[in-house]
Amino acid sequence: MSEQQDETWAKRAEHWRQAAPKGASNHDAPNQILIKYADIGEGKKCLDLASGAGEPAISIALAVGEAGSVVATDASAEMLEGARERAANMGIKNISFENTVMEDLPFEDNTFDAVTCRFGLMHASDPLTGLKEANRVLKSGGKAAFMVHGPADKNNQWTSMHKCVQSFLEVDDQARFHKHYRFSADGELIAMLQEAGFTNVLDELTVTTITQEIGKIFWEANLMRSLGSRVEGLDEAKMSALNEAIAESLAPFKKNGAYELLSSNRMAYGTV
Ligand SMILES: C[S@@+](CC[C@H](N)C(=O)[O-])C[C@H]1O[C@@H](n2cnc3c(N)ncnc32)[C@H](O)[C@@H]1O
Repeated sequence: MSEQQDETWAKRAEHWRQAAPKGASNHDAPNQILIKYADIGEGKKCLDLASGAGEPAISIALAVGEAGSVVATDASAEMLEGARERAANMGIKNISFENTVMEDLPFEDNTFDAVTCRFGLMHASDPLTGLKEANRVLKSGGKAAFMVHGPADKNNQWTSMHKCVQSFLEVDDQARFHKHYRFSADGELIAMLQEAGFTNVLDELTVTTITQEIGKIFWEANLMRSLGSRVEGLDEAKMSALNEAIAESLAPFKKNGAYELLSSNRMAYGTV
C-alpha cells in the first residue's frame, strides 16, 4: 500500500472506531454469509483480510470456538486497533492481529483452513496478488470467500451520499466511486479468483430492501465512516445543508411513508 493510501485509512480509523460496536457485530448478516461460504465452523484455523475494526474477524472468532482461531489482518494499524479493542472488551482469546497488506502475507504456505475478506479487496492496490497470497496460505481443500459491494444503482444510500458530497464540496471524486464499486460487475471477481488459482469458483449477488424512517439522519454513521475525512471540516450550517441535500436525493425512494432503499453485496468464493 502506498504511504498516501495508508494515511487515508489512518485518518479514517477514528470514524470507523466511533461507528463500530464495542463488542459483537451489529452488522452480522454479511459475516454469517462469509462464514457459511468459507465453510467455517468449530476448530477451524482462519485468516481474515482487511479486517478493519473487526468485521468479520470477531464473528469468526465466535464461530470457531476455543479449538479454532482467527488472525485479523489489515494494512492500517489504526484500523486494526478498533478490532483489538472489541476483542479485548469481549474477552476473546482465539484471535490474533497482524498489521499487513494482503499482497504480502507473513504466513507460511498451507497454513489456514479458510480465508475471508469483507469489503476490503477493492481497496487493495494489487487485488490479484492479494488473491494469489490467499491461495498460497490456504491448505489444500481450504475455502476463500470475498464480499464486495454490488452495483451502484442497487446501493442507493451510498451512491446518493457520495454524489451529494461531491457536488457539495465541488470536487471530482469519481476515483473513489469507482474503487467502491470495483468488482460489482458480473463475472469480474470470479475471473480474478480463477486467475489466482482457485477452483469451483462461484458468486452470488444479494439485493436487500432496507426501510428507513423519513426525517431521521440514518446515514450519519455511514457517511462519517465512509466519507468522514471529506466532510469533517464542515461547520454545523454546512453539515446541516449537506444532510438536507442527501435527504432530497433520497426522495425518489420514498414509498408508503418511509424510504425503501436497496443495498447490494456480491459474494465470490472458491477452493484451493
Ligand atoms: C471498507 S474497510 C472494511 C473493513 C472491514 N472488513 C469491514 O467490513 O468493516 C477496508 C479496509 O481495507 C484495508 N486495506 C486497504 N488496502 C489493504 C491492503 N492492500 N491489504 C490489507 N488491507 C487493506 C483498510 O485499511 C480498511 O481497514
